[in-house]
Amino acid sequence: MVENARDLQLGLRFRANGSNNAEIMTEPQKPDLPSGPPGATLEQQLTQWLQAAFVQAYPGQEALADQLFASVATDEQFGHYQCNAAMGLARHLRQSPRAIADALSAVLPPHPALASVEVAGPGFINLTLSDDWMSEALAAMDDDARLLVPEAGKGRTILFDYSSPNIAKPMHIGHIRSTVIGNALDRLHRFLGFTVISDNHLGDWGTQFGILILGYRNFLDEAQLARDPIGALEALYVKSNERKNEDPEWQAQARQELVKLQQGDPDSRALWETFVALSMKEFNRIYDRLDIRFDLCRGESYYHDQLPAVLDRLRAQGLVEESDGAQVVRLDEEKLPLCIVRKSDGAFNYATTDIATVLARVEAFAPEAIVYVTDERQQLHFKQFFTICRKLGIQTELRHVWFGLMRLPEGTFSTRDGNVIKLERLLDEAEERALQLIQSADTSLSDEEKRAIARTVGLGAVKYADLSQNPQSLVTFTWEKALALDGNSAPYLQYACVRARGVLRKYQESYPDSSGLDVPMHVGEPAERDVAVRLLRFPDALTRATLQYRPNLLADYLFDLAQAYSRFYQTVPFLQAPEGIRESRIRLSLLVARTLEQGLNLLGIQVPERM
Ligand code: ARG
Repeated sequence: MVENARDLQLGLRFRANGSNNAEIMTEPQKPDLPSGPPGATLEQQLTQWLQAAFVQAYPGQEALADQLFASVATDEQFGHYQCNAAMGLARHLRQSPRAIADALSAVLPPHPALASVEVAGPGFINLTLSDDWMSEALAAMDDDARLLVPEAGKGRTILFDYSSPNIAKPMHIGHIRSTVIGNALDRLHRFLGFTVISDNHLGDWGTQFGILILGYRNFLDEAQLARDPIGALEALYVKSNERKNEDPEWQAQARQELVKLQQGDPDSRALWETFVALSMKEFNRIYDRLDIRFDLCRGESYYHDQLPAVLDRLRAQGLVEESDGAQVVRLDEEKLPLCIVRKSDGAFNYATTDIATVLARVEAFAPEAIVYVTDERQQLHFKQFFTICRKLGIQTELRHVWFGLMRLPEGTFSTRDGNVIKLERLLDEAEERALQLIQSADTSLSDEEKRAIARTVGLGAVKYADLSQNPQSLVTFTWEKALALDGNSAPYLQYACVRARGVLRKYQESYPDSSGLDVPMHVGEPAERDVAVRLLRFPDALTRATLQYRPNLLADYLFDLAQAYSRFYQTVPFLQAPEGIRESRIRLSLLVARTLEQGLNLLGIQVPERM
């Protein structure tokens, strides 16, 4: 019913091919990336090189090697990368950190990327990149469509369950965050070469439909339904539910309606289909506006027939017991509350559907992981049903990526009850405000062009406000932050990108006879070096943000790059620089623009041509 056409194609594209072993419910960890060139990031290459030296310096201690890794230096004064492992290894090796760092540096062979390796302080190993190597690496990056990002996900399949709003109810802010964050994770994984299946697990089944059908039959306000379908359905539900709570007769009728729907009564079914269609029309309008598409749209109803079999399977494995007429799975060992899989009135639960969904997904797509993106309030639910899946022997990694609810200060935009916002109103307002920013910038753009830019900037600002935060921290949305032209915002990054791209036009105007930009990329000035070092971090920043499911790490990176570029732009001459250096700086600018744009695109944000 709610499936779209791509569902079918997917069914053909994906064949079960055995599932991978993976842990259940682990916190994000240091990504286990493929290591060693080619296809290794800079941090991976340096890490390998450090580990190889360790094995040489400490034969018999191989097991400790993975404690060594290179990371971005905390203070650039001392180098570009560093390794702090000696501190942690001291206890195991019964040597001072300094002695360990010295022993390592004595056997470290020269590394082509490095100008110097220095042991400092109690036992830090500081690594400084060589200008010549950076210059060559930048040229390679410029020549590579993937900007040197390895395809860490090649041959791997992952399923993302996100957005997943409920039929006949408005999306609340949790659904909107799930949609924006889930979609960024989806895009990031696709870019790394993963085969991604995005599935919108709509809440389109359950006891509420009996109440809603009864409400619809009795209180329908046609005019409101035409004007605001989801609002009208929600109002019907509220009214019918109130009546149910005070009128046993009404409650009995609602139950009757539910039974009819579940037994496939054509009239009831047709009404339910109407609810789904009306809701989907609204949701799709929002998805279109957000530029988001799903491979699958399999709601809870899709699994309805499979629920009795889930219960049978749980029973066969001795996992269920009866408690007050309900069927429950005890999770005492895991110190979790018991999970009801069938209520005493015979109805199945949210958890039962989720278990059925996992079984079906594993069977159909054999993903190595299934990732759920929802707000923090569902943590217990996911812990419980992940644990049950493990008891059932499911090996697929199941991961809940949760986020806190963003706070909306009073009067920021139209709120209904605390969390329900009208996303479309929010986007309208974002566009309006972005338009004002552009108007005041006084450019030669036509009104139509300005509107198009405002759309891109407004949408970007709203998405970025969501994505640039640590998903698990509590944040308050403000227009000032979301649209700040001088802060960590989408408009700032979009503008940085447009400006970096724009140097080409100025260059071409000043040097119409130039023979092109095919020059080595010069790395010499400090401001230039700062940009180069950051550009070459792109593969690591992107890979880490993806594999740790934290788009905000990419946002942090892009902001850092844009700031370094801004310092470069302001302190170093471009057009006045000597020939060769001039071209090199234009080329570097264009590479910055490409990198910013690629990063923003992977967050679901476009960059306007001009701004
Ligand atoms: N429909 C649910 C809600 O609005 C979210 C579903 C999340 N996905 C899942 N497989 N449980 O709360």
